[in-house]
Amino acid sequence: MSLEIDVITLFPEMFDAVTKYGVTGRAEKNKIYQLNTWNPRDYTENNRRSIDDSPYGGGQGMVLLAEPLEKAIINVKDRLKSIGVDDTHVIYLSPQGRLLDHERVLALSDYGSLTLVCGRYEGVDERFIARYVDEEISIGNYVISGGELAAMVLIDSVVRHLPGSLGDNNSAKEDTFSNLLLEFPQYTRPEIFNGESVPSVLLSGNHAKIKRWRLQQSLGKTWLNRPDLLAQKRKKGLSEEEVLLLEEFKQQQDYKISE
Ligand SMILES: C[S@@+](CC[C@H](N)C(=O)[O-])C[C@H]1O[C@@H](n2cnc3c(N)ncnc32)[C@H](O)[C@@H]1O
Repeated sequence: MSLEIDVITLFPEMFDAVTKYGVTGRAEKNKIYQLNTWNPRDYTENNRRSIDDSPYGGGQGMVLLAEPLEKAIINVKDRLKSIGVDDTHVIYLSPQGRLLDHERVLALSDYGSLTLVCGRYEGVDERFIARYVDEEISIGNYVISGGELAAMVLIDSVVRHLPGSLGDNNSAKEDTFSNLLLEFPQYTRPEIFNGESVPSVLLSGNHAKIKRWRLQQSLGKTWLNRPDLLAQKRKKGLSEEEVLLLEEFKQQQDYKISE
């Protein structure tokens, strides 16, 4: 069964960026996941169809009303019930949430249904969050203007892990962060670009050597760029081969610096 994704948003058209292009576009066409959008504006009762109001206690900006959001989520749940889905995991995209990372993405790709709530302005009425939201997720320690881009980041990263969404089922497994390592450097034609040649091992046809070189590059890049990740990897235990490869990489770096 495909993953059901329901998004509550004031700007449904933004999600064309996910459903019409690339890996996520193809996956939607192939029914690997289904995306439905719900606009809180369609659930307002006031004449002006306003979805926000000023904050109690004063202060700048506006806050999204709880009521239209509640009505939207009730409609989401009714739709899901009508297709035999009894439960959905409700996520509010928020800079105050838990940081999205590889492990969380993998865990989210196991759900049958995700409902994503996109905030705008100063955010949403806290009573809606307390009543309906299972989890708050942030895409980084910075503030963006709305939850839509964050929801799209989440959708894209989750969909990549759904069976069948990538042509080669293994490619998500080799991506950066799987196995707590950054991915090795990639090269394609031409063999020589601006006088710089592709590393000869990649042209050797020796698959064992290529595998070893790639692992060494992954370890080395992680050591250089993300020592925090390497520390996590070390905690889980590096193999003897990995220790040797990393030492060799470090020596090559020293050699490069002293050249
Ligand atoms: C301008 S922000 C509101 C920020 C809020 N006043 C605060 O300081 O926590 C508007 C909306 O953008 C979304 N948003 C902003 N930054 C985000 C982030 N880092 N991750 C996920 N969503 C974010 C949330 O849905 C939020 O309700």
